[in-house]
Amino acid sequence: MKNIAIFASGTGTNAENIVKYFSKNEKIHVAVVLSNRVNAGVHERVRRLGVPSVALPREEFIIGEPVLEVLRRYQVDFIVLAGFMCLISEPILRAYPQRILNIHPALLPKFGGKGMYGHHVHEAVVAAGEKESGITIHYINEHYDEGQILFQATCPLTEEDTPDTVAAKVHALEYAYYPKVIEQVVEDAFSSIG
Ligand code: GAR
Repeated sequence: MKNIAIFASGTGTNAENIVKYFSKNEKIHVAVVLSNRVNAGVHERVRRLGVPSVALPREEFIIGEPVLEVLRRYQVDFIVLAGFMCLISEPILRAYPQRILNIHPALLPKFGGKGMYGHHVHEAVVAAGEKESGITIHYINEHYDEGQILFQATCPLTEEDTPDTVAAKVHALEYAYYPKVIEQVVEDAFSSIG
C-alpha cells in the first residue's frame, strides 16, 4: 500500500474527487490532506469522507520541516497538489524527488507562472481569445509550473465562452483524468507495489 498526501488551498473539489477515486483501491490510499488555509473548504469535504486534514501556516510550508513531520506521521510516499497555491520549498522537494505532481488548469507553457492560478488563468485564456484550453499534469520543481509535463488534455472554446464556462470545462477534464494519471504515476514510481 502506498500513501498519498493531497495539498490543497481552496474549495477542494479535486481533492474530494481523488479521495473518492481511491477509496476502494487496494494499492493506493489517500492518507492525509494538508492545507495552508485553516478555513479552506477542502477540510470539510475530505473529513466527511473519513480522511484527516491538517492546516499549517504558509510559513511552515516554506520552512518545510513542520510539513515533513506531518508527512512522516502519515507515512506519506507521494504528494499531489490539487489547487495548492504556495510554492513547494526546497526541503520538501529534496525529501520527495520526482514524487510530487501538480495539476494546472491550462495548457502549459501558456498561462503559467506566478499569479496564474484558479480563475485568473481562465480570465487570461478568454482575454487572449484562445480556441482551446485544457489541463496539464506535471512534476513539481522549484519554479511555478515548470516541472516535466506528463499529461495534457484539451477542450475546445468558442467565442461565447466566459471564464466561468471555461472553468467548468477544465474542471470536467480534471475530474476525469487527474486520479487516473496519479494512479499510473504512483504505480510506475513504485513498480514493486503490492
Ligand atoms: C483547479 O482548477 C486546479 O487546477 C487549480 O485550482 C483549481 C482548484 O479547484 N490549480 C491552480 O491554479 C494551480 N496553479 P478545486 O479546489 O475545486 O479542486
